[in-house]
Amino acid sequence: MDIRFEKREVLKDKPDQKNLGFGKYMTDYMFVMDWEKDKGWTDARIVPHEPISMEPSSVVLHYAQETFEGLKAYRTKSGKIQLFRPDMNAERMIRSNDRLCMPPFPVDMFIEAIKALVKVEEDWVPSEPGTSLYIRPFMFASESALGVHMANAYKFMIVCCPVGAYYPEGINPIKILVEDELVRAVQGGTGFTKCGGNYAASILGQVKAEKMGCTQVLWLDGVHRKYVEEVGTMNIMFKIGGEIITAPIDSGTVLAGVTRDSMLHILKDWGYTVREERLSIDDLMKAGHDGSLEEVFGTGTAAVVSPVGELVYKEDTVTVNNFQIGELTQKLYDYLTGIQWGNVEDKYGWMMEV
Ligand code: COI
Repeated sequence: MDIRFEKREVLKDKPDQKNLGFGKYMTDYMFVMDWEKDKGWTDARIVPHEPISMEPSSVVLHYAQETFEGLKAYRTKSGKIQLFRPDMNAERMIRSNDRLCMPPFPVDMFIEAIKALVKVEEDWVPSEPGTSLYIRPFMFASESALGVHMANAYKFMIVCCPVGAYYPEGINPIKILVEDELVRAVQGGTGFTKCGGNYAASILGQVKAEKMGCTQVLWLDGVHRKYVEEVGTMNIMFKIGGEIITAPIDSGTVLAGVTRDSMLHILKDWGYTVREERLSIDDLMKAGHDGSLEEVFGTGTAAVVSPVGELVYKEDTVTVNNFQIGELTQKLYDYLTGIQWGNVEDKYGWMMEV
């Protein structure tokens, strides 16, 4: 792929690496490519990160034909920069696009574009412990049209921002509200995709959760409001009676998380029994009360491995592991981030040097 480069006159000041938060500071450049029905993908370019102008009647602004991905670049102690399983993100974006009737962005081009942009933005990859460069590829329908149909013009873009922990709690346990009224996804819908619409629909639940002093929402299945599915920004796993249980992804209502998949590999290798099965909220709360619920943790690119210390469901509250990070959760966090930052042998071959 030929990538045109447009240099910016003045580079931005870099933020304090100790106070990055999540998604606040955009880097100097972005990657852009256009798709048109008769031409396919054209004009790959890395240009200054600036506001873009859009036709107010662009399909995405009215009918939300948009998908996105999230992955990170890590700086190792020796200064190398590496990506974690970018092929998984590329493949998932193709599945998301397929559901939203958007053209596929080929895996090799996806990886090439990310590598090229991260190389240009090398100096933005932070080195403080716990930090990384978050990479946000996204695609949207740019055609100007108000009829509801598959658009004939799209843009694929990548922006980046240096980040620390996603939650203000960092690696400390968070409180989660189990949502018993609103739903996130039903079979046949878009639950398995990473599309903006899923997140737009989740914000009301998030607002409710925050009003109740919780950091995130745990969504139940959309039909029975009974089975545990996923949390707003991550998949979720439970350690009950020594075994790990997490929602299956074959229902089409749960995001196939890259971190989720990696955790399952590691846990199986460590000899744990891992069950990808439906777990009812009643059984979960019961396990919380009878002492068999040992640990709860979320998994996601932004959230990494995040301990859950409290679950609030209707009038009932369960505290997990005395609101302390569990032993296994900590071990998984250390191991995964060890691989990502290059301090632990990458025995699965998951890292890709930029
Ligand atoms: C990620 O983990 O990369 C995500 O996309 C979650 C995001 C919505 C904050």
